[in-house]
Amino acid sequence: MSSILVVYGTKTGCTTSIAEHIGATLVDAGWVVDVTAAEEKPDPSAYDAVIVGSGVRAGNWHGPVKSWVTTYAQTLKGMPTAFFTTGLTIARGPESADEVRAYTDPLVEATGVQPVDIGLFPGMNDLKKLSLPERLIMKAMKVPEGDFRDMDAVADWTREVVGKLGAE
Ligand SMILES: Cc1cc2nc3c(=O)[nH]c(=O)nc-3n(C[C@H](O)[C@H](O)[C@H](O)COP(=O)(O)O)c2cc1C
Repeated sequence: MSSILVVYGTKTGCTTSIAEHIGATLVDAGWVVDVTAAEEKPDPSAYDAVIVGSGVRAGNWHGPVKSWVTTYAQTLKGMPTAFFTTGLTIARGPESADEVRAYTDPLVEATGVQPVDIGLFPGMNDLKKLSLPERLIMKAMKVPEGDFRDMDAVADWTREVVGKLGAE
């Protein structure tokens, strides 16, 4: 049985729920799975594959996830790795996919870690969970409030990406 490490970065917990849904989908399909926050600095070397993702601020993955990928770049380059990005731009529709997919280009360039795929998932705009400056930014930009997560789409992507990760 193959083992998969799911690593995530989050500010408000939104991406935690998506990482956990990826993990639960993999468990249902018979994989051995650990779902861990990037801050816990899990060592990927004992796993057969990795899925790593983050929420976004201003087109950037959160710092601890970028640091984790950078720290373990040598290991990740030698194993199948998929990325996923949780944000609100993708909630506008598929025409924003290229823009959102490109958020991780600088990380790929800096580390050489080449994802087999990048899942793009709508997140949440829950003003209660944001700092005052963040709330002001979201209001100024007239970003609609709400929960745009689509857990069925997360599960569909997970079942699809397993094939690309070569896990059996
Ligand atoms: C200040 C701020 C900036 C954001 N910038 C982006 C962005 O550039 N692109 C995007 O797709 N989403 C952006 N978002 C939306 C978040 O990525 C989204 O709310 C996501 O669900 C956050 O997940 P997390 O709380 O797990 O980190 C931004 C949110 C805030 C509060």
